[in-house]
Amino acid sequence: MNKQASLPKQVKIVEVGPRDGLQNEKENVPADVKIELVNRLASAGFQNIEAASFVSPKWVPQMATSRDVMDAIVRKPGVIYSALTPNMQGFEAALAARADEVVIFGSASEAFSQKNINCSIAESIARFEGVAKAAKDNGLRLRGSISCAFGCPYQGEVPLDAVADVVGRMRDLGCDEIDIADTIGVATPRQTQAVMERAAAAFRLDGLSGHFHDTYGQALANIYASMEVGIAIFHSSVSGLGGCPYAKGATGNVATEDVLYMMQGLGVATGIDLDIVVDAGQFISQFLGRKGASRAGNAIAAKRAN
Ligand code: HMG
Ligand code: MG
Repeated sequence: MNKQASLPKQVKIVEVGPRDGLQNEKENVPADVKIELVNRLASAGFQNIEAASFVSPKWVPQMATSRDVMDAIVRKPGVIYSALTPNMQGFEAALAARADEVVIFGSASEAFSQKNINCSIAESIARFEGVAKAAKDNGLRLRGSISCAFGCPYQGEVPLDAVADVVGRMRDLGCDEIDIADTIGVATPRQTQAVMERAAAAFRLDGLSGHFHDTYGQALANIYASMEVGIAIFHSSVSGLGGCPYAKGATGNVATEDVLYMMQGLGVATGIDLDIVVDAGQFISQFLGRKGASRAGNAIAAKRAN
């Protein structure tokens, strides 16, 4: 059987480095560095960049400059600049900052929901109702993110039914897109397909996205496995930055450069210029004072230097 024939011809890559990537950095990253990073990524051709997070600065201090970032980035026409909004306070801030898309983020794991947003899954959905309605009333896109869809650092296994249940709730809230997230990077390819197929029974396949962290080195394989079941939206982080402060031990998102390199090889269109992303990865790695975590990014940079 020709597997490649069953892959999507093009995929949307959502760059989450400026938010998911940087939120986990202990040292303050000044707003002007974040602004330059977002602008560089926009020039690479991403249609969607997660640029900000309007959460409590006590919970995630690194995101406290989100308004400054959103105010100063050069808005490229057609690009969706997204912001996380856990509640109405976050929504009002995102609206004032002219976010194009707001992201409500829940969990398929009760334990993680408590740790990350300090409430149960049911309470979070009730809280999101106001945000979802306000988003629609203001003509903003609404995305729902479901953490720990493949495993939880606190409760371990997460049943398929729990994922399907939250997908259904996010759908009923009116989400335009729903992210199935492997917060701690534990998923493997067949499991990924089982979860994605179950999610697709509850929501449009073309509205589902895969958000994979790469803790166990499975993220590219999981993306490939997701494409085999028809998923065509993926999240990634330039230079493999990232992690969640409330998921101890979890490392960064899959590196954007690695995903782009794989897509190029597969002949799957992304509309993104890998070279510009490699430059952006070098820029942020130099600022952070460490080698980037993208294997493809490092290989391309090394080849250039020869
Ligand atoms: P809480 O303490 O229960 O909230 O936190 P509260 O309503 O009782 O308010 C407490 C204080 O926070 C008050 O301030 C509020 O004003 C303030 P005080 O009176 O004490 O000075 N506050 C806010 N400030 C700014 N913006 C807001 C906001 N809301 C309240 N929006 C809350 C509940 C949800 C706020 C908190 O738990 C929180 O901010 N959590 C965010 C955690 C987070 O950002 N985690 C990382 C993002 S999720 C992620 O990375 C996963 C993802 O990548 C997918 C995946 O990989 O799984 C998306
Ligand atoms: Mg994440």
